[in-house]
Amino acid sequence: MSLKRAAILLVLAAAGVGGYLYFGGEDGAGGGAAIASVTVPGSLSARAQAGRKIYEANCASCHGSNAAGQVGVAPPLVHIIYEPGHHGDESFQRAVARGVRAHHWRFGNMPPVDGLTRRDVAAVVAYVRELQRANGIR
Ligand code: HEC
Repeated sequence: MSLKRAAILLVLAAAGVGGYLYFGGEDGAGGGAAIASVTVPGSLSARAQAGRKIYEANCASCHGSNAAGQVGVAPPLVHIIYEPGHHGDESFQRAVARGVRAHHWRFGNMPPVDGLTRRDVAAVVAYVRELQRANGIR
């Protein structure tokens, strides 16, 4: 292996370990601390307000208040990964109906969330999109 290649591998490994600790590996540090710093919009549409209630009852225990994520638990949904072009509204419906196999992070899988209609989830999406837009994610 060339020196340059070895150096690149080393940097990648360091970034991996850092990301693991920062984004909620098992360091046990946070437990509840927000991951993203989220600007809350001054006002929400009626639909987003309804979505916020549903979000708080069904999603906030993992994804945190204002969808800012929680150290060691679940990622922020106010994050560039979840911009509409990469995770469209249907991916939220799918996540709730079928759960999510861990792939972007190291928090583990998301279990399906029972008892919500597609309409409920659409309202949650409206809420998350308004939060995203207030944070420059569109
Ligand atoms: C028990 C904890 C938990 C709950 C409750 C939960 N989630 Fe998740 N969710 C996760 C984790 C962990 C991931 C990250 C999976 C990964 O590594 O990509 C995730 C990922 C997601 C994703 C990304 C899906 C994808 O395709 O990558 C969406 C969207 C999502 N959650 C929406 C929701 C919504 C909406 C609710 C409430 C109705 C909710 N979650 C409730 C833990 C949870």
